[in-house]
This record gives sequence, C-alpha cells and structure tokens, in this order.
Amino acid sequence: MEKQEIIKQIEDLKAKKNAVILAHYYTDTEIQDLADYVGDSLGLARQAAETTADIIVFCGVHFMAETAAITSPEKKVLIPAQRCGCSLAESITGSDLRKWKEANPEGLIVSYVNTTAEVKAETDYCCTSSNALQVIEHLGKDKKIFFTPDKNLGAYLNKKTGYNMELWDGDCCVHECISSDMVLDMHQQYPDADILIHPESNCSGDDLILAHPKTFFYSTAGIIKHAKESDKKQFIIATEKGTLHQLQKENPDKEFILVHPKVICGSMKKVTLQGLYEALLHEQYRVEIDPEITKKAQLSINRMLEIG
Ligand code: 13P
Ligand code: SF4
Repeated sequence: MEKQEIIKQIEDLKAKKNAVILAHYYTDTEIQDLADYVGDSLGLARQAAETTADIIVFCGVHFMAETAAITSPEKKVLIPAQRCGCSLAESITGSDLRKWKEANPEGLIVSYVNTTAEVKAETDYCCTSSNALQVIEHLGKDKKIFFTPDKNLGAYLNKKTGYNMELWDGDCCVHECISSDMVLDMHQQYPDADILIHPESNCSGDDLILAHPKTFFYSTAGIIKHAKESDKKQFIIATEKGTLHQLQKENPDKEFILVHPKVICGSMKKVTLQGLYEALLHEQYRVEIDPEITKKAQLSINRMLEIG
C-alpha cells in the first residue's frame, strides 16, 4: 500500500473502533504526525488514564504501554511493535526490590516510570522525569530512599535536593553516551545556545554541568516548553533525536542542534506506519498484565499522579 493509503486506512480503523493513538516524542516523525496525542511519559500516562477510547494504540516502548494498561485495565492497550524494550526497564526485577525491602523494612522505594509492571508493583512511589523532584521532595530528606533504576537521574536528584538516596546501577543505553565533554564541546561551537538536557544523560550528576549557566534539565515535554517560551534563537538538545521534530514544528524560526547525531532510541524507531496499521486491523499486540500486579502497581502510579 502507498503511504497515503496506509494513513487513510489507519484513520478509518481508528474511527470505526473508537481507538486513540498515543505517541512518545522519540517515535518517527510520521507516527508523531498521525497521533492524537504526542507527549512525554507523564503526559502519556495521564492521557491513557483519561481517554474515553476503547482501544489505546501505544506508540512507544513496552513499559509505557504497560503503564497505560495499568492505569486503564478496562481498555484494550495495543503496541504496534514487539520486542521494543528499554535498557532501564530491563536493568531491574521485582525480586531485586523485594531483596532490598527485606534488608530495609523502614525504607521507601521510588522507581522511575521506566520499569516493568512487576517492579512498579513492588514500588512505593513512581515518578517520571517531569515530576521526580516533586515526588522526592514530597517524601522528605529524613526518609531512607532507594531510587531505581536510573543512576544518572538519581545522581541528578541527589545533587539538586542534597538527599543521599541509594541508587540502583541502571542506565539508558541511549542517554548514557551524553557525556560532560560532549556537552561542553558542543557549547564551545555554539556559545550563545541554551543547553537543554534530559536528566537520564550521563552528565546529569556532574557538578560542572549542573553549575554551568547555560544548562537546563528537563523531561522531553519540559525541553519543548523551555524552547517555546524562551527568547533565545539557538538550543543544544541533549536527548533523543525524535524530540527535534516537535521542537522544529513549534518553533520554525529557532535552531536546534542535537548534541550528537547518534542519540537515537532503536526501540522507539521500531514503531512504523505499517505496524500501526496492522495493530489497528488485527488488534495486536495486546499488552495484558496480571490483575494482582495491576492492583499493586496502580498504587505507586496513583501516588505519583496525586503529587504532580
Ligand atoms: P520522558 O519522560 O522525558 O518522556 O522520558 C522518557 C524516556 O524514556 C526518556 O528516555
Ligand atoms: Fe529507554 Fe533510553 Fe529508549 Fe528512553 S531512550 S525508552 S530510557 S532506551
């Protein structure tokens, strides 16, 4: 089928089946343009919880679709590509958390949303990069906190709050390559640019980068908001390449420079137009979660949604 015909079929199936298409900023540009809503992890979790659609086609990685299935267990959640994992979500298991809880019965576990449903079920509070600071500050400095699984986001939060959370040793295989040197080299080339950094980046806990007058740390949605509201004309973007699409669309008169051309999430790029069409046509691949795990995971997600 021609591309335009696939798009038409997707629109028809969506209307016929009362489906909604949610897409993350890291998906391909044509997926973002077709989606009913494009957002960061927090925005997507909220949309999934609030939609009145019967079917959610989730264009993102597996843990994101799982989050939608947890918040909307009555809806059919589909993911267009199989095996679209995330190195952070794969770095820790429910059993790892149970072991920590046994050794630290008074402690609290805060998990980044990039985790499996099983891990969320063992977690006290979930957070995303949009609300992690709010969640941590809500808990207070005197609590013993185990932050999982992203060591870079965890180091950033410890530095920002002065907390001393214990950190799991996980990382995002995409953002791990964004080093302090990479950011500083790029800044030498574009000295007037603001540097907008996703806190999963390897440089996020580095004092030099944190104290740098031009650096700002945000989730993907925060990066887009900063660029839109700023009077600046030039920005260095330290996150996945897909984010440039919305940035350029919303700010045609501004310049966005990716910190490195290889900051690409292969899992997100597995979502294709053909896969999206087949997902709607055959109602595949359904993301289903054990009801007991769903109930427990809902607690940690709802606590997060209530805080921010
Ligand atoms: P956001 O919450 O900023 O969308 O981040 C999700 C993610 O996977 C970043 O790598
Ligand atoms: Fe996971 Fe990293 Fe891809 Fe985000 S960019 S989905 S953290 S692998």
